[in-house]
Amino acid sequence: MTVRRAVILVGGKATRLLPLTCNTPKAMVPILNTPFLEYAIGYLRQHGIDEVVLAQSHLPVPIRDYFGDGSRFGLRISYAIEETPLGTAGAVRNAERYLGSAGEDCLVLNGDIFSDINITDMIDFHLSRRAKVTIALTPVDDPTSYGLVETDAGSRVTRFLEKPSRDQITTNMINAGTYLLNAEILTHIPQDTSYSFERELFPSLLGRGEAVYAYPSRGYFVDIGTPAKYLGLHHDLLNGESSLWAPTAKTDVGQHSCIHPSVRINRTKGAVLIGDNCSIAADVQLTGPVAIGAGSTIAEGAVLEESVLWQNVRVGPRAIIRKSVVANDSTLNAGCIIEDSLLSDHVTVRQGARIEPGSRIWSGETAG
Ligand code: GDD
Ligand code: MG
Repeated sequence: MTVRRAVILVGGKATRLLPLTCNTPKAMVPILNTPFLEYAIGYLRQHGIDEVVLAQSHLPVPIRDYFGDGSRFGLRISYAIEETPLGTAGAVRNAERYLGSAGEDCLVLNGDIFSDINITDMIDFHLSRRAKVTIALTPVDDPTSYGLVETDAGSRVTRFLEKPSRDQITTNMINAGTYLLNAEILTHIPQDTSYSFERELFPSLLGRGEAVYAYPSRGYFVDIGTPAKYLGLHHDLLNGESSLWAPTAKTDVGQHSCIHPSVRINRTKGAVLIGDNCSIAADVQLTGPVAIGAGSTIAEGAVLEESVLWQNVRVGPRAIIRKSVVANDSTLNAGCIIEDSLLSDHVTVRQGARIEPGSRIWSGETAG
């Protein structure tokens, strides 16, 4: 017996990533010019998963349009949509009809974590212990924004505490958003009701003494749910700190892109990635880590430092962009200065404007 099916939870509202996620679900946010979810799906496939159910609620269409039936990604994808968000466990119950015959264990993955936890090994661990649930754990510096998990010497979970306060911290091991569930567990989740793994199901299973195990992992782990983590993941990947993407050359340039010979590229702090059909004009300075999405144009003398541009972004002459993220189809006119800011899609920044550091500019706005 093994595990072939997975549910990925992609229905959250992603409020901490706003305004980037006004029109783009968190799962479709680009990481090095590729939608985040594509990494998760490739990762599950490497570990023998051949059927994925995407549990959706908020903004389902862009995900479905991109992933379709999954054939382009080498596995089968189905969609379970909640009319109103059912919470993490309720979403899995809502996907039950896609989870095969009774008795099959399945994997559940939060749709915003990037990790190299060894799922194959975790499946062996789960099956050999006949666990009802196995939760992958990872160490973090500050557990307060995660689910804290206490275990005993035999790897049984003794306590699960979602978003602990500082005085409740007893360990640095947290829930890595990766679970294996015995099929029987679905019967413990109420139907058509909002229900949470973290705040309801896990504490209730533990209260009843069910076999809930922890699979500790020390591999790479990041939850991309905040702007700092999102930029941090780019930083790590463009520095080769995760095995999931290692920069081959220090500058990767997509097809049909042209880079003027006078462009200066500084790679001391990270690589520079340029997507397809981009144009980078004379005297532009790029200081990595930088990712530039397909179809973007950077006009002469512009400066781009430690930033991420999504697709079709137009950067005017001598504009300066530092430590910022700019979503699709935005226009940053000549000489503007943008630092530590998040710009949604279809934003316009006026010529010469100096955007206050820390700004968040919403879809369709004109700033400056
Ligand atoms: N379908 C569906 N429906 N998905 C949902 C819903 C829902 O009602 N609510 C949340 N999700 C999805 C989100 O899209 C995300 O992929 C995942 O469930 C987790 O939700 P987050 O909002 O990102 O939770 P978190 O990051 O605060 O905490 C969770 O992840 C941590 C690890 O990164 C918890 O599972 C913590 O215990 C855990 O440590
Ligand atoms: Mg999260």
